[in-house]
Amino acid sequence: MTTRTYRPTAKNLQTLARLLARGQLVAAPTETVYGLAADALNPEACEKIFAAKNRPANDPLIIHIATLRQAAALARINPAAEKLAKKFWPGPLTLVLPKTDKVPPIVTSGLPSVAIRMPAHPHFRKLIQLSKRPLAAPSANPFGYVSPTTAAHVKNGLDGKIPAILDGGPCAIGLESTILDLRNPAKPVLLRPGAISREEISKLLKRPVRHIRKKSPAKQTAVLAPGLLTKHYSPKTPLNLVKKISARQAAAPCLFFQKPDKLPPSKNHFYLTTNGNLSEAAQNLFAQLRALDKKHFKEIHVELAPGKTALALAINDRLTRAAAKT
Ligand code: TXA
Ligand code: MG
Repeated sequence: MTTRTYRPTAKNLQTLARLLARGQLVAAPTETVYGLAADALNPEACEKIFAAKNRPANDPLIIHIATLRQAAALARINPAAEKLAKKFWPGPLTLVLPKTDKVPPIVTSGLPSVAIRMPAHPHFRKLIQLSKRPLAAPSANPFGYVSPTTAAHVKNGLDGKIPAILDGGPCAIGLESTILDLRNPAKPVLLRPGAISREEISKLLKRPVRHIRKKSPAKQTAVLAPGLLTKHYSPKTPLNLVKKISARQAAAPCLFFQKPDKLPPSKNHFYLTTNGNLSEAAQNLFAQLRALDKKHFKEIHVELAPGKTALALAINDRLTRAAAKT
């Protein structure tokens, strides 16, 4: 199969929406990362996602919708979900809710729940609107590898496996959405940290939000959301995570959080942000991990993001999974 890259013209968006309506796969940008989209109501189309990504069938997909009405057809929306949707949609928040019969089992890996998100990216929204279908879309990368934040990343991983990529430029956020389990609205659980923080959610819902990784055994995480396994987002280069890169470590290849200003320039030094800006660091993270993989270093020291803000926690979550060995 030849993989064609499309510019986001009105005509091309029509063409791609038609492909989706016919059960084909289209990779397209969201504000978080590029997604590999298929008609969520067409099981054969969704099967192609699993095949192209080499994704295990027990790792369920997120369904992307453009209106609350679409969401209500797929999930049983409780008042807490409604509140969050009003405040954070469209945006980088995915809600796990009890599913309706409309959702084919392949999308949820047979689970009685479904993950739903209303993306903010205008091109992705346009594809949902023009195809008139909710779109199932995981990140558009081979299973287990770093998520793509540009069309070139998608092409790199899935060339020959999918017919179409929509090139909408680099993703604004650069990290996957926050996932919140709201099956029981009295006890919301954060399944994956993202740009929307646990505190913001907790404040809006006026109740505590538990983080699944703090208390749950790995087995439980695997059953609830296999994609949240400890090892994920994995570059080939082994990463040695540190809080602060020491002068001695700086002799070896290093990925600093912020551009070091006291060290002599080195071609083995990389950084996520020039001035400590967390949004910039998040935007650059996956592209940097991919670029570093091409250097074939034996190992690289990687500095964690400072602080406890949503983006710092999300960056460090991805780095921790990327560094995990098994
Ligand atoms: O930002 C994002 O969320 C991106 C863009 C494309 O929207 N998508 C994304 O999808 O990151 P993916 O498939 O790479 O990660 C989705 C995660 C998986 O780890 C999966 O296990 C979890 O969502 N998930 C999906 N349905 C679930 C469900 N019913 N219950 C629990 N977890 C679920
Ligand atoms: Mg993924």
